[in-house]
Amino acid sequence: IRFFLPRDSAALAVGADKVAKRLSVEIASRGLDATITRTGSRGLFWLEPMLEVETTAGRIAYGPLTAADIPALLDSGLLTGGHHAKRLGKPEELPFLARQTRLTFARCGIVDPLSLEDYRATGGLKGLEKAVTLGAPAIVEEVTKSGLRGRGGAGFPTGIKWKTVADTAAVRKFIVCNADEGDSGTFADRMILEGDPFCLIEGMIIAGIAVGATKGYVYIRSEYPDAIDVFTAAVEIAGQAGLLGPSVMGSSYAFEIEVRTGAGAYVCGEETALLESIEGKRGQVRAKPPLPAHKGLFGMPTVINNLISLATVPVILDKGSAFYADFGLGRSRGTMPIQIAGNVKHGGLFEAAFGLTLGEIIEDIGGGTLTGRPVKAVQAGGPLGAYFPPHLFDTPYDYEAFAARDGLIGHGGLVVFDDSVDMAGMARFAMEFCAIESCGKCTPCRIGSTRGVEVVDRITAGIDHAANLTVLKDLCTTMKFGSLCALGGFTPYPVMSALTHYPDDFAPRGTRLL
Ligand code: NAI
Ligand code: SF4
Repeated sequence: IRFFLPRDSAALAVGADKVAKRLSVEIASRGLDATITRTGSRGLFWLEPMLEVETTAGRIAYGPLTAADIPALLDSGLLTGGHHAKRLGKPEELPFLARQTRLTFARCGIVDPLSLEDYRATGGLKGLEKAVTLGAPAIVEEVTKSGLRGRGGAGFPTGIKWKTVADTAAVRKFIVCNADEGDSGTFADRMILEGDPFCLIEGMIIAGIAVGATKGYVYIRSEYPDAIDVFTAAVEIAGQAGLLGPSVMGSSYAFEIEVRTGAGAYVCGEETALLESIEGKRGQVRAKPPLPAHKGLFGMPTVINNLISLATVPVILDKGSAFYADFGLGRSRGTMPIQIAGNVKHGGLFEAAFGLTLGEIIEDIGGGTLTGRPVKAVQAGGPLGAYFPPHLFDTPYDYEAFAARDGLIGHGGLVVFDDSVDMAGMARFAMEFCAIESCGKCTPCRIGSTRGVEVVDRITAGIDHAANLTVLKDLCTTMKFGSLCALGGFTPYPVMSALTHYPDDFAPRGTRLL
């Protein structure tokens, strides 16, 4: 008998280890011939801890479980996938999963993340095998033709970035994976690190072959201790198996990976601050140009990609660029791991081709708010993303469509708020967040964010209300166009969207309370 239970930190946070412990005690006391495989999460967080049992009809899921459920479950036919109040049926038939197109997350929640056998048995390493035979220019061409764009948020074409690095002559080049996943409501990078780490390793090796780099760094935020542990173990296993080292899978290509941990600064997710941090310096933004593709880590040409971009490369190489490009809409090709979070009934990871509307994702897939109150706002793209009100729920989930409505899809995070949210408070929070996280290099961000908090306070207090509204708009324009990086430059998005869509929330508090 095989049981599968996530060890993803979202499942651990709601008691997965306690469930595992109770299950192993019951297995031993009942003398059962059973094993428990700890997997990543399938990404249906409201059902975690979700236990699966292998039966002749396939895997059957039960959840959300507590340790106390286990004895009764075993008594009532868990071993054969039998009936119980918490029986969910086949996971792949649950509507939340059945509606998805899982390309990057195909294995996540299914395999043992540290089993190379599982990885190979589910199509792993096929992309790399193909890459080794294709050689550098053809790999870059495949990635370019796939239409893959940077999943960190900016959406820059990955193939063009790789070509820039490939065409830049240097004695050394580097691949850097940005896993400093700091956006609020995002967890896709973490899920891959914890649930399918070999997929990232494979993608990084392919990137190395494509541009002529032999060393990769993975920069993981310190707030992800489980991810750091699992990924570090995966690198070790890959090295022992000859996947990493002087001869990748017996080929003439060499590649090694080093894991680096951040120290809690949001700005270190900005690519040049991240490079400074790896170099052992204070995480401060560099002026561009030069682009990291020309002069990046230790002054060498560097591919710096978000984790999801790199983890999507194996499936593109394996199935072909045309297969991947066939999904999506307009210039947004392929799939996006949408992360649904906040006050929502069905929070989790939903990988789908671009093109669903925001309303479908929030109301239909996410099930609306957990509190049952009406949705008032959805923040798309992290703390620097715009707030979308329900009247914009017809916006298709696509880079250009969001930009056309003064928003961004960013790294794929969506945070839902019900009608109890105070949007002036959220605008203030955006400025406060920027003030706390600013690296201090440029004036509009360093000083503008602090002044921004004060201005919002004056507006809500009713002090020179009209004049301060004008000051806030003016300040946002200055920050948007005068900041060196996205932290200061994008803070105006949540502020201005709050002001545009929820003007009543900016009324002087005395008036509003009347
Ligand atoms: P950017 O537009 O300046 O650059 C995007 C990428 O393309 C960079 O890697 C840049 O070096 C590269 N690039 C640009 N022109 C190039 C060329 N000609 N050749 C080769 N490479 C080129 O955007 P930036 O500042 O890197 O990122 C901003 C985004 O970061 C925002 O859209 C925001 O959504 C996102 N973000 C993501 C977070 C997360 O947790 N994932 C957190 C905060 C912001
Ligand atoms: Fe630093 Fe802010 Fe300027 Fe970015 S915008 S460089 S975080 S001060």
